[in-house]
Amino acid sequence: MRLKRTCMCGTLSKKNIGDEVMLSGWVQRRRDLGGLIFVDLRDITGIIQIVFDNNISQTAFKDAEQLGSEYVITVKGKVYERQSINPNMPTGQIEVFAEDMEILNQSETPPIYIKDDDDVSENLRLKYRYLDLRKPAMQGNLILRHKTAQVTRNFLSGEGFLEVETPMLTKTTPEGARDYLVPSRVNPGKFYALPQSPQLFKQLLMVSGMEKYFQIVRCFRDEDLRADRQPEFTQIDCEMSFVDIDDIIEINERLLQKIFKEVLNIDIPLPIDRITYKEAMERFGSDKPDTRFGFELIDVGETVKNCGFRIFTSAIENGGAVKAINVKGYGDQFSRKDITKLEDYIKDYRAKGLAWIKITEQGVTSPIAKFFTEEEMEAILKVTHAASGDLILFVADKTQVVYDSLGHLRIEIAKRLNLLNKDEFKLIWVTEFPLFEYDDEEGRYVAKHHPFTSPVDEDIEIMESDPEKVRAKAYDIVLNGYEIGGGSIRIHTPELQQKMFKVLGFGEEEVREKFGFLLDAFKYGTPPHGGIAYGLDRLVMILAKEDNIRQVIAFPKTQNATCPLTDAPTFADKKQLDELNITVTSGRGAETVAHSKGNEK
Ligand code: AMO
Ligand code: AMP
Repeated sequence: MRLKRTCMCGTLSKKNIGDEVMLSGWVQRRRDLGGLIFVDLRDITGIIQIVFDNNISQTAFKDAEQLGSEYVITVKGKVYERQSINPNMPTGQIEVFAEDMEILNQSETPPIYIKDDDDVSENLRLKYRYLDLRKPAMQGNLILRHKTAQVTRNFLSGEGFLEVETPMLTKTTPEGARDYLVPSRVNPGKFYALPQSPQLFKQLLMVSGMEKYFQIVRCFRDEDLRADRQPEFTQIDCEMSFVDIDDIIEINERLLQKIFKEVLNIDIPLPIDRITYKEAMERFGSDKPDTRFGFELIDVGETVKNCGFRIFTSAIENGGAVKAINVKGYGDQFSRKDITKLEDYIKDYRAKGLAWIKITEQGVTSPIAKFFTEEEMEAILKVTHAASGDLILFVADKTQVVYDSLGHLRIEIAKRLNLLNKDEFKLIWVTEFPLFEYDDEEGRYVAKHHPFTSPVDEDIEIMESDPEKVRAKAYDIVLNGYEIGGGSIRIHTPELQQKMFKVLGFGEEEVREKFGFLLDAFKYGTPPHGGIAYGLDRLVMILAKEDNIRQVIAFPKTQNATCPLTDAPTFADKKQLDELNITVTSGRGAETVAHSKGNEK
């Protein structure tokens, strides 16, 4: 390099006028006006306009004429006030008149534009992720991610937490997903599991007397992917000894407050609201309520149980529910056609239909009005606080279906009405989760959080007789309708842990094999302990006002858990498979197996 950078493009402003600078970066674009060439030069801090005119040497001017998109250059020049100010550019009041230039590297025409709002398929963006990450918005997201991690690290270190690394090649840590397995070459037939979380190790660290642990750590879960899920993702993972729920919530509220202040300069008022799981379901139909808007669920079961509409009455007779939401003041925004679309939408959540009442100045319009007496209609309007301009939507079904469909519907309606303001941040703790939930597929109870979560003390005695009623000392932290973190107070005695495994239907031998080491550890003076883990990707996604965690992960996977850039996962060589004593039964390796078997005959 003949020329050496002295400052960064985006840091220059009017106060630098007159300064001699050397800037390095990428050519965003070049405009050639004959004797005058304008180049927008980009580095990670921003873009600045460079002007080449006849003050520069002939050779350098010729070089400037050759510049293409994404060429890498260093420019030496002087900062001037700009003649035609560009208000859309942070450096729009100045420009640099080039005196010298060095081309450090050329670039082929990039397959994607390096432009924030370029409308190109995500697959192509991921294939050329190194170019995609040149976009200012993507760089901004990774900077924000870095800041969030850094603030967290500083805060927790300041509070006396120790960052301790835990193994990646380990044994299954059940968090409700499938494991990623890694074959062991030196132990034929055996597999490590990549951790779904460091849950067991952080508890063992409490047994070790580490008192306060944290780690910003990669976790692996083989599960169906969605916008807010990746097969590998990062947790901010914490654990503390001698604490109760309030201690954990208190310190985490201060952590969240610090993150919002330092990353976005937003003041989060403390304490953060808390709501029990039961109340969250009743009011929002969800255990991760978005509290930026209303449209809360209203139970109309009592009001309609004896009415003439069979769909409502039979839902109640069968032990289900009839609930409504009042789309207050927005009734005129929904035509019949729109309501039919909403009905189609909730069918994805197993609802069978969507009944509705619209209230206008002229009176009530509703396809179900004919089923109600005047008094019944009046009672319905009263309980739903209906007024002119409102639209009331009803679902009658099994309670869980009602929650699920209306819970999603209120968000869908808010989305359609543009009420999901990304500049607004609403945090809420959800507490007292059920300890168990029944898994229809497996035909047994499973842990709602994980099997190491402690039941609420007074519910321990009904663990075996009435598992569904047992509340857990578990809590989630929810931000704008996303579960950004969750944790619990743990079981810390071998007896209670054994009991938990028993209710979950684990046999004694299975427990010994899978978790014997934990039960053994609990015999040697385990302190009461608890903790929490945040999904860093999800938290950063919301802070960055993105809708997808792939936008805040440098090299994410697609919906099919593949990486278009590296082509992972790939077939393994036969030699590698042989070393691992692995026979594959489908894909490329399988052909080899079939072929070699054929040869043996
Ligand atoms: P949990 O399973 O709730 O708890 O995970 C904690 C947080 O991690 C995030 N998360 C994910 N983010 C992206 N992709 C995924 N596939 C994914 N899965 C989970 C969520 C979630 O809230 N060991 C316990 C924590 C504890 O009890 O302390 C645990 O892992 O934001
Ligand atoms: P039907 O008599 O089946 O035409 O239904 C009358 C109205 O009730 C229609 O608007 C349906 O969408 C609605 N509806 C049907 N099933 C349900 C249900 N389970 N909950 C709420 N509304 C329903």
